[in-house]
Amino acid sequence: MAGLIPQNFIDDLIGRSDIVEVINARVPLKRKGKEFTACCPFHNEKTPSFTVSENKQFYYCFGCHAKGNVIGFLMDYEHLSYVDAIETLAADQHLDVPHEDNAFANKDKEDKQPLYDILKQAAELFQKQLKTSERAISYLKQRGLSGEIAKQFKIGYAPDGWDFLISHLGKSKENLTALTKTGLIVNKDNNKTYDRFRDRIIFPITDQRGRIIGFGGRILDQGEPKYLNSPENAVFHKGYELYGLYEAKQALRKIDRIMVVEGYMDVVALAQHGINYAVASLGTATTTEQIQKVFRTTHEIIFCYDGDNAGKKAAWRALENTLTVIRDGMVAKFLFLPEKEDPDTMVRKEGKQAFEQRIKDASTLSDFLFDNLKSECDISTSEGKAQLASKANTLIQKMHNSIFKDLLIEELSSLVGLSQQHLESKISSEIKKQAPVQKATAIRGQQVSNHKTRIAIALLVQNPSLAAKYKVPEKFKNAFTKGLPLLHLLQEIIESNPDMSSAALLERFRDNEHEKVLNKLAVLQTPETETTDNVDEVYSNIIKRLLIEDRDDYFSHKINNNEPLTAEEQEEFLKVPGT
Ligand code: GTP
Ligand code: MN
Repeated sequence: MAGLIPQNFIDDLIGRSDIVEVINARVPLKRKGKEFTACCPFHNEKTPSFTVSENKQFYYCFGCHAKGNVIGFLMDYEHLSYVDAIETLAADQHLDVPHEDNAFANKDKEDKQPLYDILKQAAELFQKQLKTSERAISYLKQRGLSGEIAKQFKIGYAPDGWDFLISHLGKSKENLTALTKTGLIVNKDNNKTYDRFRDRIIFPITDQRGRIIGFGGRILDQGEPKYLNSPENAVFHKGYELYGLYEAKQALRKIDRIMVVEGYMDVVALAQHGINYAVASLGTATTTEQIQKVFRTTHEIIFCYDGDNAGKKAAWRALENTLTVIRDGMVAKFLFLPEKEDPDTMVRKEGKQAFEQRIKDASTLSDFLFDNLKSECDISTSEGKAQLASKANTLIQKMHNSIFKDLLIEELSSLVGLSQQHLESKISSEIKKQAPVQKATAIRGQQVSNHKTRIAIALLVQNPSLAAKYKVPEKFKNAFTKGLPLLHLLQEIIESNPDMSSAALLERFRDNEHEKVLNKLAVLQTPETETTDNVDEVYSNIIKRLLIEDRDDYFSHKINNNEPLTAEEQEEFLKVPGT
């Protein structure tokens, strides 16, 4: 049993490898100033927005937002596991990967592998059962599906009865545990177990690598619930997965667009009619994670919903989530079907060509945004215009800076008759409004220093050598302000290995609660992080400000909550900040 790979080996390996070389061997790079660029391998584009920084040993795509260090690149580009990515890098350097003698080694893998195994076996059994069930076959036929499509989506049938899976797969204790953990069998109170899916058509859900992670099961006749889904478990997280994405990638070499629909049957029926770029969110609103996943695959997303109120509502939530992730070069559209229709019934009625015409004619994001706002506000009055401007501002604020954002502001400006400058200053002043005025609430204070904290963290992650020049105060370890303890932790890690690159530093946080935010901050661009000559000074000034703000936050929190100050705190409170 291989043990854990020692952290210092991974640091060292990242230090020896050159991300530019590794990527260039797979995606030819061109030098552009201090950085290297190429067309992004993770989404479709014609002009290069994928950049690799030799300095930071980090890559970033301005188009789809993909980012990471050399290990992350190999994992994503070659679909490797973490350990395999390290093995690949080590082989390039002619190094053997050492393993620590550790009982917890590969624990995660050990935990999950039996689940993947049992899910795969169950899917195969269900598929076999389909062949023997006249009823299930004729149900699928009646819904217009061919055997070929059923095979492509690994559609199966769970027979009636209570112990089909248990009797076939439940022979060992390990299998029973795995069956329970995946939710394929359910434990009753009296220690008895039974199959979750009975007499249902089974739609296996696969992850990006084609591993089966869960199932959706549809009843054949009328009945409740119509669909039954696997519960969340160690390998299945509904908000992150998209039904049909793997199948679309298998079917198409190049994916020009992806359409998000509501149901399993919609995805399959569309594929049956040659539209094999549909995916379904799994019975929930489309999350930002799912939208990001789509934008990593292609640059165009079409949300397809019923034209009824529920559909409009779902589309609006999708729009809100899209705004927070969309970048220039990405396109989002909204397609509403006539009432009582869904993509399945629609494509069967009118065929591929007519359906694809609907996709072509779908509303743009900005049309849907403004049409919807206009239907809510009466813009023939000043009050209505103000209301619309305010609602639109709230949404536009969530966006990354982009040309698209500027265009939306321009459109809003002509709609409400206010100048763009005016609207822009409104948008930024709404953000500033959160600053403490006189009697700061703790929460407001936190948001403000939070912004500075983010910049401080970004500076340190992007320039780990700052840790040696200006030390993060010890006080931050248990500071009141969010983010300061993380800043302190970064300082400690860098001190343990002062030559560490940004990439190696980030590697320490893989699968850690801070991973996401640190990866974002590693590529954050602000006037501060773009400073080239006096980073040290900018950084030390921010830390000094943070010290003062943390003190203020702490006191306003106490005062606002009527908590008494200790004698020491009272003295400190009376001192003029910075003295
Ligand atoms: P068909 O009737 O087979 O065409 O279903 P559909 O795909 O048109 O489903 P519908 O529009 O009713 O629902 C869309 C999606 O919502 C389904 O694919 C399921 O993921 C989910 N869903 C629908 N009904 C249920 C239910 O009763 N329980 C659960 N958990 N999910 C459901
Ligand atoms: Mn349907």
